Amino acid sequence: MLAAMTDRDGRLAIGELAARSGLAPSALRYYEEMGLIHSERTTGNQRRYPRTALRRVAFVRAAQQVGLSLEEVRAALDRLPVDRAPSATEWNAVARTWQLRIDARIGELERLKERLTGCIGCGCLSLRKCRLYNPGDAAGSQGPGARYLEGDPLPES
Ligand code: FES
Repeated sequence: MLAAMTDRDGRLAIGELAARSGLAPSALRYYEEMGLIHSERTTGNQRRYPRTALRRVAFVRAAQQVGLSLEEVRAALDRLPVDRAPSATEWNAVARTWQLRIDARIGELERLKERLTGCIGCGCLSLRKCRLYNPGDAAGSQGPGARYLEGDPLPES
């Protein structure tokens, strides 16, 4: 059945790309709208993806697992050709850019871990030292997000 979903040029129908990548067709259409993968249309207006779309999808999923946004992933993938299979050198160049981002992300997570370590298993919600406690949404005036967890100073008390 899968062979019938691949055309004679080796391009994949969306159902086969979904089956092989583990993503739903709707997610693949979204990736395409985002410019992460590219397809051509048959005369019947059906999508056909080059086999390199499998590697792109795998790259997107791995990047998301380490916390990269789809915009960051697209910026990286925009450096690859869409009309041919990227070379190993081209993939390596993309990988280097995201290694820098992963290092930065690891740093962010380590700082978050340091801030949260005192709270894990604590439950005190101390006004003076707890980064989870935010009485009366006092931190709301400092901007959106979890202000104390993101590094804003705790209120004096
Ligand atoms: S719950 Fe005790 S310090 Fe946050």
